Amino acid sequence: MSDSEQLLRDIAGAGDLAALEKLRVAALGKSGTITAQLKSLGSMDAEERAAHGPKIHALREAVTAAIAERKAALEAAELDRRLATEKLDLSLPAAQAPQGTVHPVSQVMDELAEIFADLGFAVAEGPEIEDQWYNFTALNMPEAHPARAMHDTFYCEPRDGESEPRVLRTHTSPVQIRAMQNQGAPLRIIAPGRVYRSDSDATHTPMFHQIEGLVVDRAIHLGHLRWTLETFLKAFFERDDVAIRMIPSYFPFTEPSADVHVGWSWEGGRRVIGGSENWMEVLGSGMVHPRVLANAGLDPDEWQGFAFGTGVDRLAMLKYGMSDLRAFFDADLRWLKHYGFRALAVPTLSGGVGA
Ligand code: DAH
Repeated sequence: MSDSEQLLRDIAGAGDLAALEKLRVAALGKSGTITAQLKSLGSMDAEERAAHGPKIHALREAVTAAIAERKAALEAAELDRRLATEKLDLSLPAAQAPQGTVHPVSQVMDELAEIFADLGFAVAEGPEIEDQWYNFTALNMPEAHPARAMHDTFYCEPRDGESEPRVLRTHTSPVQIRAMQNQGAPLRIIAPGRVYRSDSDATHTPMFHQIEGLVVDRAIHLGHLRWTLETFLKAFFERDDVAIRMIPSYFPFTEPSADVHVGWSWEGGRRVIGGSENWMEVLGSGMVHPRVLANAGLDPDEWQGFAFGTGVDRLAMLKYGMSDLRAFFDADLRWLKHYGFRALAVPTLSGGVGA
């Protein structure tokens, strides 16, 4: 058998891609046998070259084609092998897969969005790194206003050309201003999101969650606010006997302002929302201050509004019975498994929110 016949046989019989590559280098590589033959053409005279040239070129083509063919065959075999071994058994029961849970904060935000969507509210958002104008000034807290100091604000490093440094928003109320600027009136929004204050103990973490509510329309009054909050709290705590009372209070961005207290009682050694034996504060609220409407570009002689704000984490603790807020952010899998919700248990009003 000639050398070239042997080479073609070896190529056809190469057991894997590495062996095939070795044969290719030995024949067609820089110092391969066929390469050497091609090089020798240069030192031949015209007659010799006419005799040998076509044969050598034909051999190179035959070897190149044989290698490509073997390579395709080896790759197809490799793919078949992988398809056979890496098959996915779609009949595996899902219970064997690792299960994550929905964090109670996410769950409660979904519950709130569901409840307020039913009342005609849209969800609005704003940045967590906020201008002081939105976080304070536009909300009727001018510089040197004592409420600014009360917020334990995190200030950012000032950026070049910035007149005052931005802050991590201390509440979701700045979204009120952004929503009024962007959407005008009339308006019905809720704004859930993260807020930040330099504070940490069993009931305070430097990052926590609030939800803001804002309604702007003509002839809006305190009665609308009270009905909305009562309806919301009944739906959220899933009880008809939820009682509220509104206590005069002070917020710079509302006038008049009210703290909203909800009634609770002991049931089997647990505090549960409902009845009117005891009271606890759950929300801040009030009629939007005319100056706030004007700061957001609305005419306070034409438009009135009410607003409210509350802590989402706190609502979750009240509804689902956790006592330490810090555990919310520890990412402890045992806690998440215990307090978390099934991913497909999406809250719906018809199914009983949070049920
Ligand atoms: N922004 C207030 C806070 O963080 C909560 C609040 C109170 C929001 C009254 C409101 C409101 O919209 O009307 O403590």
